[in-house]
Amino acid sequence: MQGLKAEILRGFWYMAVPGAELKPGGMTHLRMLDEPVLIGRGKDGKVFALRDICPHRGVPLHYGSFDGEAITCSYHAWRFNREGACVEVPSMVDGQRIDMSKIRCGAYPCVEQQGIVWVYFAHGGEEPSGATETPPKVPLFPEDQGPETHVKLIFPCSIDHTTYGLMDPAHVAYVHTSRWFRAKTRTVKEKTKAFEPSPLGFKMATHQVPESQTFYKILGSKVIADISYALPAIRIEELHGDRHNVVGLTALTPITDEETAFHQMFWTTLPWVKPLRPLVRAMSRKFLNQDRDIAVQQREGLQDEPKLMLINDANTQARWWMHLKDEWVNSNKEGRPFVNPVQAKTLRFKS
Ligand code: FES
Ligand SMILES: [Fe+2]
Repeated sequence: MQGLKAEILRGFWYMAVPGAELKPGGMTHLRMLDEPVLIGRGKDGKVFALRDICPHRGVPLHYGSFDGEAITCSYHAWRFNREGACVEVPSMVDGQRIDMSKIRCGAYPCVEQQGIVWVYFAHGGEEPSGATETPPKVPLFPEDQGPETHVKLIFPCSIDHTTYGLMDPAHVAYVHTSRWFRAKTRTVKEKTKAFEPSPLGFKMATHQVPESQTFYKILGSKVIADISYALPAIRIEELHGDRHNVVGLTALTPITDEETAFHQMFWTTLPWVKPLRPLVRAMSRKFLNQDRDIAVQQREGLQDEPKLMLINDANTQARWWMHLKDEWVNSNKEGRPFVNPVQAKTLRFKS
């Protein structure tokens, strides 16, 4: 978590796009983990992901066309199916032979779950189809229910600095100064939060939120909160009331090793949120833009490669995060199971 660049973890599912942005027969393209990726949805509704480069002469496939079954390259009209295999080379004449099974643009495992399209990036050396786990899933809501809102921002910094911003309690009073979220006066209070290890990460111990806070009252009289962080960069915040639930998902995807796509979504059982979606989206965007603005300032400083520091306890979560990343890399290198390095601990800080 020092410089401009960060190590990108492989062997994980990363969020590509919200499913609602892909119509049947539609395609889009984006850079993920510094690779060009084409995402599409067939006429049958199924999503797929291909490496967005024609293996013939290198033109990105997204310049071509998609008929809901196959992609046709814009240069010489070679056709590729949704598994990335070439199915037609129009310049061939009778009697000419070519082993089509050897011509592939490359495909990634791709699934749609809870309204999100996820793409799996295999470890180096692993079969591209090697995904064993399924993508992250938010609790309390069914597999076919998409989020109420989705906000995407591009952060001009590595996935490490972006993730750290998610788990940094000490910036909130100084960066998020809108009247929507916190009074302009920068008051900080001492907090005590218990943390424990969770699968591939850590979580704040399940706790009941203070009954005095008005916002939580809309969910019921007894509201339980669960906040967890997991590799590669997933935060799930669950507020579980006796009347209603709200679950937030933050999913970060490296675009390159120094630029990150920040996706924020949430699901709720509150029926009146639907008509207020544009307002909720605008509020989320305003809040996240404050984090982004700080990231822009930070990038300016990082250009000079300063030596940075992390302090206890306000930065302890960032330390855990780097230990988790290191353990992921080392356990894969050494071919052994991942052992979560986080120990349960209570952190104290002012925020
Ligand atoms: S470059 Fe794609 S068909 Fe030739
Ligand atoms: Fe923030």
